[in-house]
Order: sequence, then C-alpha cells, then structure tokens
Amino acid sequence: MKIQRFEPPPHRKLRWAVLIAAFLAAAVCLPLASKSEQLARGAYLACAGNCGACHTERGGAAYAGGRAVPSPFGTIYAPKITPDAETGIGKWSADAFWQAMHNGKSADGSLLYPAFPYPNYTKLSRADVDAVYAFLRSVLAVRRANTPNTLRFPYNQSNLPLVWRALYFRPCVYQDERGKTMEWNRGAYLVQGAGHCSACHTARKNLGAAEEKSDLAGGLIPVLNWYAPSLTSDKEAGLGDWEIGHIAALLKTGVSPRATVFWPMAEVVYGSLQHLSDTNIRAMAIYLKSLPKNEAPPPGSAFPGAAATTPASPSTRRSPATAR
Ligand code: HEC
Ligand code: HEC
Repeated sequence: MKIQRFEPPPHRKLRWAVLIAAFLAAAVCLPLASKSEQLARGAYLACAGNCGACHTERGGAAYAGGRAVPSPFGTIYAPKITPDAETGIGKWSADAFWQAMHNGKSADGSLLYPAFPYPNYTKLSRADVDAVYAFLRSVLAVRRANTPNTLRFPYNQSNLPLVWRALYFRPCVYQDERGKTMEWNRGAYLVQGAGHCSACHTARKNLGAAEEKSDLAGGLIPVLNWYAPSLTSDKEAGLGDWEIGHIAALLKTGVSPRATVFWPMAEVVYGSLQHLSDTNIRAMAIYLKSLPKNEAPPPGSAFPGAAATTPASPSTRRSPATAR
C-alpha cells in the first residue's frame, strides 16, 4: 500500500505558524495571578505593549533580547530587559526606566532609536510605567551580552536620534479628552500608547517619524514592505461602518465577519491583543470606530529602500471569503 505524504495546504501552514507564534507569545504573557496587583498590572501592560515581541528572541528566554528589529536605518537588536545587573536593567532605578519609556533615553544617557516605540510609550502614565518596571524586575534574570546594532551610514552616527528627536519627538503623557466617555479615553490611551498601533498604521516621513496629521491613515512597514491599511479611511480597513462587536472580535481573535488578519498583524493579535480584557478591547474598538474618516490616499513612504516597491493593495491581503 502506498503511503501518501501529508502536505498541509498553504492556509494550514499559516494556521500552524500562527499557533506556534501564539504559543511563544503565551510563554511571555504568563498569567501572574499570585503576584501583587502592581506586578499583575505590569504584566498586563507588557502584553498590551507587546514588549516580548521585540525583546524575546524566537525560542529564547522571555525579555532576554536579541531579536532583530528591521528599521530603515539598518538592523537594531532589541536589548535585554531582564533584571540581570550586568547585561540587563538590574541596576536601573524606576526613574531610569521612566526616562527610557517616556523620554527615549537609556540609563547611560544615550538616546534610543525610535525602532523602540517610545514615541508611543511616552503616553503611558508614570504609575503604569512603574508597574511595567516592577514586572520586568520580577522576570528571570538572563546574562548575555546584547547584540551590537548594524546600522548603515549615515544612520550609525550617534547624533541621529538627537536630530530625530529635535524634529519629531515631544514627550507627553496621554491626557483624557474632555467631553469623551471614560471608555473612549481608555481606548485612546491603549491605542495611542501601549498598543503603539501607529508604529505600523501611520505613514512615515524621512527618518521614520510618523506623520502626525495622518495618524493611523495607513503606512508601509519599513523593510518588510508590508502595507498596514488605514484605520481611518472606509475604503481600506476604515472601521467607521463596522459594528463595535466585529472590530472587537478582529482585535481579540484576528477573525471577524469583515476581515481576517495576517502576519504581522496576526503577531500583534497573538502576542498582545488576545490577552487583553474584553472591556479594554471594546474600549479600543469604540475609539477606533470614532476616528475621523480620512479618504485621502495615505502619503507615500519616504523610507530609503521602501520607495522602490509599490505597496500591495490591502485588498490582496484579505481572505477571499471575507472580502468586501
Ligand atoms: C517594535 C519593537 C519593540 C517593542 C514592541 C518594544 N521595544 Fe523596547 N526596544 C526596542 C529596540 C530596538 C530597542 C533598542 C533601541 C536602541 O538601541 O536605540 C529597545 C530599547 C528598550 C529599552 C532601553 C534598554 C537599554 O538598555 O537602553 C527599554 C527599557 C525597553 N526597550 C523597554 C521596552 C518595554 C517595557 C516595552 C513594552 C512596553 C518595549 N520595550 C517594547 C524594540 C522594541
Ligand atoms: C507590527 C505592525 C503592526 C502593529 C503594531 C499593528 N498593526 Fe494592525 N495591521 C498591520 C498590518 C500589516 C495589517 C494588514 C494585514 C492584515 O490585515 O492582516 C494590519 C491590519 C489591521 C486591521 C485589519 C484591517 C482589515 O480590514 O483587514 C486592524 C483593525 C488593525 N490592524 C488594527 C490595529 C490596532 C488597533 C493596533 C494596535 C493595537 C494595530 N493594528 C497594531 C500591522 C500592524
């Protein structure tokens, strides 16, 4: 009898990839029921911020760094953020950690590259950043030298973050918008801050700064050349005419009657969003649905290297069964 080799169809392979990603992510987002409330909140926020996605190497110890983060400037390796005293943040004070998250400054005063989405994390409150700090100090300390960055000239010039900051960065904690509900403000805080959605969904200017006026209006992810659709224009992913429940389902599970997400959004869902409470997911959905429509085509990417490639139409990323 002939034994047939089982070849999973491509979508099955994808499902496996997603499941494996989910497993890895779950390893980083372990529930911490027994720890104090601050630790639990810190762990939750670390999930909301998907810190593990960049700071954990595939198959590596949680938050032990080493994962290559592609950026238009070259490859930046996410450093270790475990509490090891020599190679991690073990000697960092809460203030030093706040300086990194809120101001983009490392403990030795050097400026960090915005491949670390601190332009979003700057919106986090001090109490929330302190909770993340407490949580990271509770994870297993791992000793291993950080991988040096391989930035290309002129981006390896140490004053680049300085120029970038002067042009584009203003540290500021999220302030509740008056006249909006608590739920809406919670959603805005999570989307703009920890969720760092604009890191992918917003077009970039030179030097990789997010275009402020077209926030969440779609953008080409540098190097990966993967287009993250506009979340404001109804012609693309625009969520204006979606039911809140459908947006929430997409965020929480990656699947909704309107669309299904793929890598890299699938990684965001599995590493981060699926672990968030239904109340917070709903708040994010309410905020996203309220975003003003922006029918203008998103400005092109000004990233070196990205310009040569035309972004794939977002519609080609949609599964045929759910195409609108
Ligand atoms: C998109 C990838 C990415 C995500 C998500 C991310 N980081 Fe990072 N992070 C980096 C990179 C890359 C660097 C190094 C930047 C540099 O070398 O200038 C960094 C640097 C840091 C530093 C400074 C470390 C040092 O030694 O100076 C801290 C602290 C940090 N991240 C904490 C966090 C926390 C906490 C979260 C989640 C809330 C997080 N990061 C999420 C990519 C990321
Ligand atoms: C690492 C980059 C990245 C981050 C961070 C990210 N996204 Fe995405 N997102 C994408 C890409 C790429 C797509 C398009 C591919 C797809 O639909 O799976 C997408 C698709 C989506 C869609 C589906 C639109 C549709 O109709 O198909 C929604 C909704 C969405 N993102 C919301 C969010 C929210 C909310 C956040 C923040 C919590 C976020 N994204 C963070 C890259 C990202």
